[in-house]
Amino acid sequence: MTKIFDLLKEDHDKHRELLKKIAETEGDSPERRETFAEFREEVTAHASAEEQSLYAEMLSRPELQEDGRHSVAEHKELDDLLAELADMDMSSSGWLQKFKTLRHDYEHHIDEEEQEMFPAADEEFATKCEERLGEIYADRYPDELATAQQGIEHDDRE
Ligand SMILES: [Fe+2]
Ligand SMILES: [Fe+2]
Repeated sequence: MTKIFDLLKEDHDKHRELLKKIAETEGDSPERRETFAEFREEVTAHASAEEQSLYAEMLSRPELQEDGRHSVAEHKELDDLLAELADMDMSSSGWLQKFKTLRHDYEHHIDEEEQEMFPAADEEFATKCEERLGEIYADRYPDELATAQQGIEHDDRE
């Protein structure tokens, strides 16, 4: 059975690839629109399913609550940044500037999860718990992705 941390890291690597791909696009192009929409949908679904599995468990344990709060607060900040970017003219220099901020912040967020949050949780959780959270994540992700795809403006892709 796949443990929660392996599933999350796999998704993080996909997100790193997408960020790299977006950085290689130019102006208000179909490539930039599509890749950004894909990134936004996947990260939105990832963060929701991650909160319903890993962070729900962390928040319920006094010794991990502070770390859990920190990450969930960052999810909200990233969500706001993604919404701002979606509303901006993709060919403007302001867009690229804000995208660079997003990339920096998000890469910091997932590096911190992998280097600090996951090891801290891994120390506290039993193997059974990590497998159970993996199941919850894998179960929630498709629904959250469908919701994100419905909720995020599809004009971006046309
Ligand atoms: Fe996260
Ligand atoms: Fe994550």
